[in-house]
Amino acid sequence: HAECLPSSQSGQYICDVSPLVLPLLSLSLSTLNMSIVLVALISASIIYALLKFYRFTAKFPPGPFPLPFLGNLHQVDFGPRQFSLFAKKFSGLYTVFVPIPMLEITDYALIKEAFIDHGEDYVERNQLPVLDDILTYCKNGGVINSSGDNWREQRRAALSILRDFGMGRNVMEEKVQRSIEQYLCNLRAQEGKASINMRWPIQIMVANIINEVLFGYLYTVDDCDGLVKFVEQFDDLLQGIASSALLPLATVFPFIRRIPILGYYAVQKHADKMRKVYQYVIDNMDRAMKTYDPEAEPTNFVHAYTQRMSGNSYLDRDNLIQTCTDFFSAGQETTSTTLRWAMLFLAENQPQQDRLREEIHRVIGKERLPAMTDKHNMLYTQATLHEIQRLANILRYNVFRKTHKSTELAGHTIPENMSIHADIHYVMWNDRHFVNPKEYRPERYISEDGASLRKDLVDRTIPFSIGKRSCAGEGLARVELFLALTATIQHYRILPVPGHTIDLTQQPLFIGGPIDQELRVVPV
Ligand code: HEM
Repeated sequence: HAECLPSSQSGQYICDVSPLVLPLLSLSLSTLNMSIVLVALISASIIYALLKFYRFTAKFPPGPFPLPFLGNLHQVDFGPRQFSLFAKKFSGLYTVFVPIPMLEITDYALIKEAFIDHGEDYVERNQLPVLDDILTYCKNGGVINSSGDNWREQRRAALSILRDFGMGRNVMEEKVQRSIEQYLCNLRAQEGKASINMRWPIQIMVANIINEVLFGYLYTVDDCDGLVKFVEQFDDLLQGIASSALLPLATVFPFIRRIPILGYYAVQKHADKMRKVYQYVIDNMDRAMKTYDPEAEPTNFVHAYTQRMSGNSYLDRDNLIQTCTDFFSAGQETTSTTLRWAMLFLAENQPQQDRLREEIHRVIGKERLPAMTDKHNMLYTQATLHEIQRLANILRYNVFRKTHKSTELAGHTIPENMSIHADIHYVMWNDRHFVNPKEYRPERYISEDGASLRKDLVDRTIPFSIGKRSCAGEGLARVELFLALTATIQHYRILPVPGHTIDLTQQPLFIGGPIDQELRVVPV
């Protein structure tokens, strides 16, 4: 049907197609063109976004290859495998995108370089909005999760009050000894039983120490319902957080917490449990305040802090609630979990237990309570404590830090505001200095001369972390661990229940405790 005609403008021949076909053809041509343009635009945008993403990731120290949007989320699981998954491939430090960039440090020398040599650069906490929703009573309050001037003031005030109460001196030691006497009474009352669960005697002994310091009173074994409830609620919270599939998702995509129902299960459910934990602390504070006298010498932390409020604008009731909660939860679950591990390691390793008891009886005898002055005469006991803390390795994640300015580590630039995870857990179970690290062998810490500890191993045993933000309760914890361990082994032989083996599986929780199990506790 087409007729060739000269073109009116150019004189060239054009094809005259049917008036219906021409518009259709031009339409499909323009649709095709549009599609090509669209595909080209989309491709260009994708390439641009990819270039931008990989230019962004190149700013950080190298690590496992991140996927756009997901980062390394598909490789890291927030459970037992943790972030150290790539430690063997990247020696010492690497970036994991979860999907925000996080620096994982798995080498002791690098943790030391960062937290000691450049301590100020890594002093801030990484406050994730979702975890803040759950864990904090007031924004940037207390000691564990705060940053900046408020952290400095809260930590300084808390440590100064604890020093006034004798932390690092005999007064605190006497408090610990009082609680240990009660604990030994408790064990004595259970003598003759075929087996006992040492969890509650240990938990009450440790909780009583911090309880007396903070609120000024002691629990008795027959009257500790409040404490048992607190511990159960706290355990329930930790268990809920560890087993939640939605919470890590909400941490990465915080908008989830605003979605009805989903937000409740992801965040609010845990926040409600944490409120109950706070209520315990508030009730105890209110009880302590009934005997408060602004003129009198303070006898507990709540009184001392309240007296200091008038001269310091950073000290207020909200921060007091948060600080007491920080010290109460950090101060009892950690030490008691370590001591529970100690009992299991010693039950499993009888020759090492005998050697420990021999030193205790030789230096302290069988009658009097152990004292801190005994410690420097007890090399094997010191080695035992290091080995217990190293092998128990209870904090599966160290508390996260953040750079507050751009800095350098091992020749890499570490940008400002980067999340930092110093993996003390990985160091204590993997550093090559610890030969056969999963074996319980306190002897490893003793030098060839048999008269001193091996400094290279002691340095790498870092359960309290290191640097300006290291554990604020380390001094108290070391007193508790030494006095409680020696008093127990001085009086009792710890054995497995006949017919049962000791289960040393670590629970995959933030505080990696052992499985609850019974032991035979025989007087010596
Ligand atoms: C065996 C027992 C304990 C272990 C293994 C332990 C471990 C730790 C670790 C690893 C940190 C984080 C440090 C960092 O960010 O680098 C920490 C912080 C903290 N611990 Fe402990 N801790 C123990 C006992 C205690 C006790 C008894 C108390 C209180 C009396 C306590 C109070 C604190 C506080 C308040 C912080 C926060 C410090 C800050 O952010 O400035 N801890 N602890």
